[in-house]
Amino acid sequence: MTVHFIGAGPGAADLITLRGRDLIAACPVCLYAGSLVPAALLAHCPPGARIVNTAPLSLDQIIEEIAAAHAAGQDVARLHSGDLSIWSAMGEQLRRMRALGIPYDVTPGVPSFAAAAAALGAELTLPGAAQSVVLTRTSGRASAMPEAETLENFARTGAVLAIHLSVHVLEKVVAELTPHYGADCPVAVVWRASWPDQRVVRASLGTLHTTIGVEMERTALILVGHTLGAEDFDESRLYAGDYDRRYRPVGTAPRFPDTAPE
Ligand SMILES: C[S@@+](CC[C@H](N)C(=O)[O-])C[C@H]1O[C@@H](n2cnc3c(N)ncnc32)[C@H](O)[C@@H]1O
Repeated sequence: MTVHFIGAGPGAADLITLRGRDLIAACPVCLYAGSLVPAALLAHCPPGARIVNTAPLSLDQIIEEIAAAHAAGQDVARLHSGDLSIWSAMGEQLRRMRALGIPYDVTPGVPSFAAAAAALGAELTLPGAAQSVVLTRTSGRASAMPEAETLENFARTGAVLAIHLSVHVLEKVVAELTPHYGADCPVAVVWRASWPDQRVVRASLGTLHTTIGVEMERTALILVGHTLGAEDFDESRLYAGDYDRRYRPVGTAPRFPDTAPE
């Protein structure tokens, strides 16, 4: 018996990995975080599967469900939105699994920041403009931020910021970032990236005066950085005609002479 923790992706039902889909289909028990995991994914569950929305459950109740499946020798598909490596509450469940001696594995998913970048048609890291993306959030009711992890500190680096769980404090975010990035720095707010009702607002920090409707207060990402919409960035050296590399030796004395181009 194994508990399969599966990244369910950002919302579109076809943005789950084949491995994740096949695991759902093979498990007689499916626990899913109903607030963000698309219900359409549950269609992959086998007939007669026990399907439980864990949104109203406490951690203890979730572990009880898993322990019961373990006792019955039934594999569990445990679905969380996006990828499991960020803000999934998987860590505390894995710790309980280790304490109880219940086997588990983890299947990654498409994170929402990637879906938001796709909605924008944007590469977030562009040569000469920004080479780092910070996945962060502001403090919430359930989670305080460590002291040094302030937007201001991250902003000092000039990295692109993908700010989660913060659209309800959008004005505050804009006010904190504007002194560092400048009022002309591009910003995008992507609501429900990849869902059928996805919505995108693009502006600059100085012009983003959008009213956030109640229905848009959740499930949105704020992306800020000079690579958004940039055209004046450098081309990657990797594909430059004169760049001698393992897979494309160039010149009379290539650096990797023994490597045949593929
Ligand atoms: C609890 S976190 C889950 C993050 C998730 N594990 C991931 O990989 O993206 C929820 C936050 O992620 C962001 N988010 C999740 N799905 C999203 C989507 N489809 N579009 C935009 N933002 C999303 C929002 O900032 C939301 O408040």
